[in-house]
Amino acid sequence: KTIYLKDYQVPDYLVDSTDLHFELEPKATLVKSQLKIRRNPKAGQGLPPLLLDGIDLELLSIAIDGSILPEVSYQETLQGLSILVDKPEFILEIHNRINPEDNTSLEGLYLSNGMYCTQCEAEGFRKITFYPDRPDVMSKFTTTIVAPKDHPVLLSNGNQIDFGDCEDGRHFATWEDPFAKPSYLFALVAGDLENVEDTFTTSSGREVKLQIFTEAKNIGKCEHAMRSLKKAMSWDEEVYGREYDLDIFMIVAVDHFNMGAMENKGLNIFNSACVLASPETATDSAFQRIESIVGHEYFHNWSGNRVTCRDWFQLSLKEGFTVFRDAEFSADMNSRAVKRIEDVSLLRTNQFAEDAGPMSHPIRPDSYIEISNFYTLTVYEKGAEVVRMLHTLLGKEKFRKGSDLYFERHDGSAATCEDFILSMEDANQVNLTQFRHWYSQAGTPILEVTDSFDQATGRYSLKVSQSCPTRANQDKSLPLHIPIKIGLLDVDGNNSILNNEGDIEEVLEVTQPEQLFEFSGFREKPLPSLLRDFSAPVKVRYPYTGKQLIFLMRNDSDTFNRWDASQRLAFMALTQLQQDYRSGEALQLQPELIEAYRDVLKDSTLDPALVAEILRLPSEQSVAEMNDLIDAEAIVVARDFALKTLATALAPELLQRYTALDHQKPYSPNAKDIAERSLKNTCLSYLAATEKDDALNIVQKQFETAGNMTDSAAALSALINYGSAPKVDSAIQEFYQRWKDDTQVVELWLGLQSSSARNGTLANIKNLIKHPSFEIKNPNKVRAVLGGFANRNFKQFHKEDGSGFFFIAEQVVMLDKINPQIAARLVVPITRWQKYSDDLSGKMREALQGILDSGGLSKDVFEVVSKSIN
Ligand code: ARG
Ligand code: ZN
Repeated sequence: KTIYLKDYQVPDYLVDSTDLHFELEPKATLVKSQLKIRRNPKAGQGLPPLLLDGIDLELLSIAIDGSILPEVSYQETLQGLSILVDKPEFILEIHNRINPEDNTSLEGLYLSNGMYCTQCEAEGFRKITFYPDRPDVMSKFTTTIVAPKDHPVLLSNGNQIDFGDCEDGRHFATWEDPFAKPSYLFALVAGDLENVEDTFTTSSGREVKLQIFTEAKNIGKCEHAMRSLKKAMSWDEEVYGREYDLDIFMIVAVDHFNMGAMENKGLNIFNSACVLASPETATDSAFQRIESIVGHEYFHNWSGNRVTCRDWFQLSLKEGFTVFRDAEFSADMNSRAVKRIEDVSLLRTNQFAEDAGPMSHPIRPDSYIEISNFYTLTVYEKGAEVVRMLHTLLGKEKFRKGSDLYFERHDGSAATCEDFILSMEDANQVNLTQFRHWYSQAGTPILEVTDSFDQATGRYSLKVSQSCPTRANQDKSLPLHIPIKIGLLDVDGNNSILNNEGDIEEVLEVTQPEQLFEFSGFREKPLPSLLRDFSAPVKVRYPYTGKQLIFLMRNDSDTFNRWDASQRLAFMALTQLQQDYRSGEALQLQPELIEAYRDVLKDSTLDPALVAEILRLPSEQSVAEMNDLIDAEAIVVARDFALKTLATALAPELLQRYTALDHQKPYSPNAKDIAERSLKNTCLSYLAATEKDDALNIVQKQFETAGNMTDSAAALSALINYGSAPKVDSAIQEFYQRWKDDTQVVELWLGLQSSSARNGTLANIKNLIKHPSFEIKNPNKVRAVLGGFANRNFKQFHKEDGSGFFFIAEQVVMLDKINPQIAARLVVPITRWQKYSDDLSGKMREALQGILDSGGLSKDVFEVVSKSIN
């Protein structure tokens, strides 16, 4: 059944308070809920039946104002309960039973390594008890947890107001959350946990207790998350004026988790992989991921919790905004340019593909079958880009005035994307009517840019036309309001709009389908640097020559665009190589291109992290996204050729740079050291690609002597992809023996193997899923092995016989019975069949049809597969 935004109606009943009582038992947890219910004065006349959501619940009893309800007064439906109501205000008491142990969907209340935990967003609360499980019903929660004493830690939202022993030997704790919240922000944790503790004093002087809970064996891995949390708390005070509002803030690490983390009020629950780290076991990117996710969940306390969403179509209201906030936080803590490059790469590679695929949707979708399928890169990352455009258009101060007004107006309530825009408008007396189309239109806009120069008058003009490819079932798109940050470079590389002074940059506001921008005062034709800092989530086409791109790579004052020029250049070369391969011509790389890379590699004035980003060739996946028709084999051949040619030609410089950076200093995940390791390991992987003995010896030596996980994993990855078979096997075994008790490292180890470009990887994966370390019920393991193969192993996944697709399809059908959310994500790579050349596209369809024919699919998988096939 499809749900539409246009059908939104206010809730019939409100819940002023929610009193929950849990008696935890693995297979039979008793839940008693007492709800103070009142007819919503905004919902019209009469007393309609009270509809409560409820899934997989065993109903024990219902009482209204203390008297048990006769069976004629209510009805159990597929979705929950319908109760006849004869008064506008009453206390509803429901008792029901649930089975956390058999709950492998990881939504609602479930067990992870013996620990009880919850995940309620978006619609998991209905798997705990009958409730109006929608975000616009906000209620004050009190929660009592009763459990055996082998679960000493009992946590829920807010402040603990009571605890003690029960007569039967169990114990209990009662928590009260003073802030009204929707059910999706409810959380409960019970287990044998330890915690690290710290404090933070807010700007108004409130002392907040900070705790991170984890199994005893991981207690040494919490320090980085704690440091990140404190940084995030200060940052939100400084940049947004937002203070924390409870006396306690808790984080719990959980091994079985569908997503990264969850912002439950006062009790964030995290996927272990997104919170636990130690220098020996975590890579630099894990350290950075943790900092950003800890920030993200913390920032939700305002953008999500204090102001929440009216309905799930508004998801980007909290997610887009919060991703923008966490990206700026990370940029302020680390290298701004590198953070931007990483985010844009992800967006271009994966969000653009989503926007061009069968599940394409606007950042505010207008319909869905299963909302879990819409926790997407579009809602999150493109949503963040839309907020960033507002920031660019308004400027920092006005944006802040807008966000202040938004928080002030909507504090304690459930808002919409429209409310956010209105606050931005009202705070600044600006008109964002046209900008609103970003919320309702799907697809990646394309900007065609051409220019001309009149020598006589010194006038330079840029013509920009916008269009947006839409899918058949979407309305024709209206022109968008697009900020394009540009610079104009003269022949010396000075970044000058010559009628102005100094280092000039302008934001052009494109609003028309076709628009002309004029500049005067030039002696010769300038070279445009377009869409600086990626000022809008669009594709820009401009007929750059290779020479001009090399010039931008060397001279642009916008660091992001120096990288972008290198990407355009690489893409041009890879396109040529693909064509040559298909027409049977000899492959070759332009010498100018090689020299440009050599210059970058030798440039010691550049940030090493940026050098690494420039050197790294675009992934096969990102090349695929840029092609209208994907010829997987040609992409693989072209990229392999380019990589090997560069590696061979630049070997001396690569080795020199590698050696200079290969100093053994004590590990610290600070921006400077991370940058150096990033370049060092990029050089290492290029060297390995030569497959020469001396290079592979260097890799082997780094593998044996590495003092941190970043270096160790980089060496293992290089070995797995390029080493000689016996050495690879022994490295894989050695690494496993050393780390087999560390869950996070084992996940990394699995992922490196499944993304190996080597032939035979699929056979190896079929063994890996039988390995003792693999667990089909653990999403991280599934993501490492199956996700690693389908999403990060372009070459082996796209084998011409379709074996990769059929294997994944088989796993999807099996996983769907265990965890529909995870299954629905895993199937995505085979749903983009329309873009592939015939051979592969036919095999993908066949695999999809197989899934549909297997029958009994969850809503999750059904939605993704059926939308792709029809
Ligand atoms: N709100 C969480 C976050 O962005 C994500 C939770 C999504 N959960 C889900 N089952 N779809 O941090
Ligand atoms: Zn979020």
